[in-house]
Amino acid sequence: MLPVLAKPNVCIRDRKRVEEIILSLQNGGASKLQIISDFDMTLTRFAHNGKRCPTSHNIVDTSRLISEDCKKMLKDLLDTYYPIEIDPSRSVAEKLPLMVEWWTKAHGCLVEQKIRKDQLEMAVRESDAMLRDGFKPFFDKLYEHSIPLVIFSAGIGDVLEEIIRQAGVFHPNVKVVSNYMDFDDNGVLRAFKGELIHTYNKREGALKNSGLFNQQTESRNIILLGDSMGDLSMADGVENTENILKIGFLNDKVEERREQYLNSYDIVLVKDESMDVVNGILQHII
Ligand code: TMP
Ligand code: MG
Repeated sequence: MLPVLAKPNVCIRDRKRVEEIILSLQNGGASKLQIISDFDMTLTRFAHNGKRCPTSHNIVDTSRLISEDCKKMLKDLLDTYYPIEIDPSRSVAEKLPLMVEWWTKAHGCLVEQKIRKDQLEMAVRESDAMLRDGFKPFFDKLYEHSIPLVIFSAGIGDVLEEIIRQAGVFHPNVKVVSNYMDFDDNGVLRAFKGELIHTYNKREGALKNSGLFNQQTESRNIILLGDSMGDLSMADGVENTENILKIGFLNDKVEERREQYLNSYDIVLVKDESMDVVNGILQHII
């Protein structure tokens, strides 16, 4: 067993199976490997010094780009819908229409704010957005070994790109599937592009964008990183998957959701604000 998997916050239902998958990933090597990762609260920190860190939506929602009325509206939406998003007692079918409602209302609010494209850089710079500790070796190693990293996010693509650009890790092997802003000729936000991605329709998004997930003829082994139950379907668009290792960050409502996460993710990282486990596995297999 890898030393990094012995940490007390690493929870695994079936250690033997995890060992077997890791061995298969090691045998496959870098040329077969692809990483598919969620962004908000997976590549970014959930909390820092006891304070919640923002999602890509929150960065815009709490920035100087938004009126006080709109801020209040977005906060009310968050307070209403976030508890539903993470409620383990509700089914995905029940959550689906409510998530569409949340995203549609929030995006509607943002579009009314006449946000300018050139203001996003400042909003990110002034925010408390933080990638997880150890993000740099993670991104750099994948780049160094030409391992595709597909970031699959229900957040805002323009904002998350800016976060990784400012962190100096937006390497050419990084591809993003997300909700992108649509700006008019004057650079003012007028809509969101394409079909909405929310927490629980990533399977549809994965199938629709399957070209992006199948660029490398060789890549057949996957490490999937997520923090939500909806993230588990992010690799559904990959053809001929040989091995998949699912790693889940359990950030919030730990006791209520532990069982559900242990049954769905191969490795569950409880309140871990770092990329240490992922980096340790990568170090071992390539
Ligand atoms: P993701 O982590 O799957 O990419 O999902 C994005 C997260 O963004 C999800 O946990 C809910 C959150 N969110 C906000 O914080 N504010 C919003 O206005 C919306 C629509 C989503
Ligand atoms: Mg997330």
